[in-house]
Formats: sequence, C-alpha cells, structure tokens
Amino acid sequence: MSDTDRPVAIITGAGRGIGRATAIELADEGYRVCLAARTREELEATRAATGLAPPDSLIVLVDLAQAQAPSNLLETTLDLYGRVDVLVNNAGWAPPRRSLVKTSEADQDRMLAVNLRAPIALTRLAAARMLQQGGGAIINIASTAGLRSPALEAVYAAAKAGLIAFSRACFNELRGSGVKVSVVIPGLVDTALIPPNKHLDRTRMLAPQAVARAVTRIIKAPAEICPVELVLEPSRNPERAR
Ligand SMILES: NC(=O)c1ccc[n+]([C@@H]2O[C@H](COP(=O)([O-])OP(=O)(O)OC[C@H]3O[C@@H](n4cnc5c(N)ncnc54)[C@H](OP(=O)(O)O)[C@@H]3O)[C@@H](O)[C@H]2O)c1
Repeated sequence: MSDTDRPVAIITGAGRGIGRATAIELADEGYRVCLAARTREELEATRAATGLAPPDSLIVLVDLAQAQAPSNLLETTLDLYGRVDVLVNNAGWAPPRRSLVKTSEADQDRMLAVNLRAPIALTRLAAARMLQQGGGAIINIASTAGLRSPALEAVYAAAKAGLIAFSRACFNELRGSGVKVSVVIPGLVDTALIPPNKHLDRTRMLAPQAVARAVTRIIKAPAEICPVELVLEPSRNPERAR
C-alpha cells in the first residue's frame, strides 16, 4: 500500500494516556494519524512514539471546549489527507471530584463541551464524510461514571451518560451504512486524569494500552462485528477498603 492509500485516523486527546496509546496502536496497524489536543509537547512525544513523521502524522492544536474546534479539526485533516476513516473521540476532562454546589459554571460548561458537545459535533461531521467514502469507524470513549452516576462527579457523569446514549443512537442510525459506531466504557485507568489518591491502588487500574487494544480490535473487526458498547472494568478492584 502506498502512503497515500493508507487510511487516516483522528484521535482526540492524543497527547497522553488512552489517546496516546491508541495513536500508537493505530499507527502500528497502518493508519496515518491526526493527533489533536492542546499541548504541543505532548503531541510531539506521541508523534515520536508512533514512529510516523509528517505527513503521515499530523498535529492539530485544538481546545475542544471551543465551539469551532470540531469543524476546524476536521477541515485541517481533510485539507491534508482528503479522507477520514476512523474517529476516536477520546479527549475528556474533569476537575478533581467535588460536590455539584461547589462546581463553577466555567468547569460545568467545559466538562459538557469537551466530554459531550465536541464528540457529538465531530461525529456529525466525520460521519457525513465517511458515508460519502462508503465506510468508517467512530469510537467514543465514555466512562463507567456514565453508568453508575457516582456522587461528586455529577456533571462528568451526565456528560458521559449522554455520550453513551448518543453513541447508541448513532449506531442505530448508521447501522448497515458501513460506518461503525461504538462506545467504549472504561472503569479506572492509570492516567493523569486520576490524581494520586491513597484509597486507590494504581497497580490494579487498567493500563491505557488495554483500552487502546480494545479500541483497535473494534476498528479492525469485520464490518458485521460492531460491539454497540464495551464496558471495560479492571479485573481487580483498585479501590482500597477504608
Ligand atoms: N483515566 C480513567 O480512569 C478513565 C476512566 C474512564 C474514562 N476515561 C476517559 O478516557 C478518555 C481519556 O482520558 P485519559 O484518562 O487518557 O486522560 P488524560 O491522560 O488526562 O488525557 C486526556 C487527553 O485529552 C486532552 N484534552 C483535555 N481537554 C481537552 C480540550 N479542551 N481540548 C482538546 N484536548 C483536550 C488532553 O490534552 P491537553 O490537556 O493537552 O488538551 C489529553 O491529551 C477521557 O474521555 C476520559 O473521560 C478515563
């Protein structure tokens, strides 16, 4: 396959954690990768880890809390590659756990924008392009917070529950079209999103690479295999008895 025939994957939040691991996996699988987040140094480190030099890797600096960011990201990708085959809506954000009444409006809006509005907009735009191309895959990274609704995570849980509902609806709407939509729902993953906490045993959390492998398997599976949702819990409970 020549370089220009290689499929293209957009990975949001590719600078660290699950996004970086997913970018590395997809590069290993032969994808050209578009790496999106806000921090250039982290994206450069991810690019180096993929072994893909420009133009087989593209860095796009975006703040997905901004309303125009999804369309800018898609346009930038299409300007360079002229196609998008995979979208991994992975970027996510939450402040340290705190009660709803102590959550600022700015944090509330950022959580909803990054975890829900941006993935919806990116899915809407990318799906249109994938339908024209005749196929593709969209993987949304939610969280078990969206299933369990834990205290002190109300807005984050609402955003992730919304992303799960949105993904299921997109699966229903796009089934049979050649565009896969799947939502991956991890429990605790050992990344910078989870601050140090003496009540958590990090060695029992999922590794970001485990989530990345699951994402890649869904993408690589034959068209007729598309888990609508995949819940990934660590096999051992990271929560220490109090
Ligand atoms: N870690 C867990 O236990 C866990 C569990 C379940 C689900 N998840 C979900 O998994 C996904 C990845 O999380 P992670 O644990 O890998 O977190 P992480 O290590 O903190 O990485 C988050 C990535 O998202 C990017 N990001 C954050 N805000 C952004 C914004 N406004 N615009 C663009 N990019 C932004 C970050 O880059 P910049 O800061 O440079 O922008 C970073 O690259 C998230 O959706 C998260 O909700 C995580």
